[in-house]
Amino acid sequence: MSGRSLFLVPVLMVFATACERQLPTGGLLGKAGGNSLGRPLAGLKTDERRLFDRGSIVFATEFTPETGLGPLFNSTSCAECHEDPVAGAVGDEVEIHATELQGAVCKRPEHRRGPVIQQTVTAALHDSLGIDVEPVPSAATGTGLRTTPSILGFGLLDAVPEAEILARADSDDRDGDGISGRPNMTPDGHVGRFGRKAQTATLREFNATAFVMEMGITNPESDVEQTVDGQPLPLGVDPTPDPELSQADLDATIAFVRFLAPPAPQGMTVAIAASRQRFIQIGCAGCHVPYLKTGPNPVKALSDQTVPAFTDLLLHDMGPALADICLQQALPSEFRTEPLMGLRFKTAFLHDGRATSIEQAIDFHGGEGAAARDRFEALSLGERAAIVRFLRGL
Ligand code: HEC
Ligand code: HEC
Repeated sequence: MSGRSLFLVPVLMVFATACERQLPTGGLLGKAGGNSLGRPLAGLKTDERRLFDRGSIVFATEFTPETGLGPLFNSTSCAECHEDPVAGAVGDEVEIHATELQGAVCKRPEHRRGPVIQQTVTAALHDSLGIDVEPVPSAATGTGLRTTPSILGFGLLDAVPEAEILARADSDDRDGDGISGRPNMTPDGHVGRFGRKAQTATLREFNATAFVMEMGITNPESDVEQTVDGQPLPLGVDPTPDPELSQADLDATIAFVRFLAPPAPQGMTVAIAASRQRFIQIGCAGCHVPYLKTGPNPVKALSDQTVPAFTDLLLHDMGPALADICLQQALPSEFRTEPLMGLRFKTAFLHDGRATSIEQAIDFHGGEGAAARDRFEALSLGERAAIVRFLRGL
């Protein structure tokens, strides 16, 4: 650039790069870039921050049979799965879940605490029963694969009032837009929101259960060890006294997960903002709702916040091609709208990782998602690529 006046240079630069101009974020989107990754929410009080730090250590602790691991387990630490690029983000582990559908009733055998099948056993259990993995229970009518999602920012999803989620439910599609989200209500009457089938209402419960289901670590809020098809565990294979985790360490882990900051959407340029608008226009936001609002919360950092979640936390019928297991009220073809927050970390998409690109993930949308998919596919190549660029920044 040969600018005659130095003052002209910045003006010309702004003009030449208008499409890359940063939009004012109004404090909503945070700074572009990844410097908040793995960090706690801004504005935590000292004692909350202390709990976060302690929880980050428990989250990364590698358990051993001596400290309670197993006898059935999937991995040795939370951070072994939720790891990339920081603790709490995605992982390459793919699990097997199994449940039993009898007529319209989805069952989970009494002795099981969740749908997760454990794909590893301790040496002691192997020596005693001669097995290397937990066999899928004989009563299971279906199995499904589950990739390890990012949980960054999920404390904010936990803090969204049930009324806000229920306000978007439209089970009978009264507004006639072809989208009829419904909540997965838990047996005790709460709105399920965590897990691919929105099977669990709170992060507290999901995390307490994850200790047992993923690592075989009993704790005061999930105190029953997993067994093989309901049979009592052979004597001596699980010598660690229950609970294998203290209430204080459980509370700290829960605080760590609750207080992990969401990834800030990257590079909100004019072009990206236009693609975001297009995403809304073609009906993607009928399920992937751009922002959810948290309610009043005793933790100020979680109180009255706006979270760029891109989900409604409701179940949608996605058609027969994606269907796998039932879970509580969710039928095999129903899935919670996957939050697109953190999409940038993923390399395999959809609940089982079957899609190797974002375009493919969209292509697999059937059922209630088919109309938006068709509108996406009717766009020009350039418009489609621009929407994918926007999604890659989430
Ligand atoms: C073996 C790998 C593995 C380990 C270990 C593991 N997770 Fe997960 N995690 C997963 C998978 C797979 C899912 C998806 C489950 C589903 O879709 O139902 C998940 C889901 C979650 C979710 C809910 C995310 C959502 O989309 O709603 C939370 C919260 C979570 N894990 C926390 C933890 C905590 C805390 C620990 C340690 C106690 C842990 N996880 C250990 C694999 C793992
Ligand atoms: C009817 C509700 C609905 C609509 C409309 C919808 N989606 Fe989805 N979307 C979902 C559900 C549910 C999933 C999770 C499906 C699964 O895991 O099998 C999902 C998953 C995705 C994923 C993969 C996320 C991941 O982490 O693997 C992407 C990307 C996506 N949607 C983009 C879009 C785009 C772009 C549009 C508009 C063309 C759209 N969706 C419209 C419900 C919807």
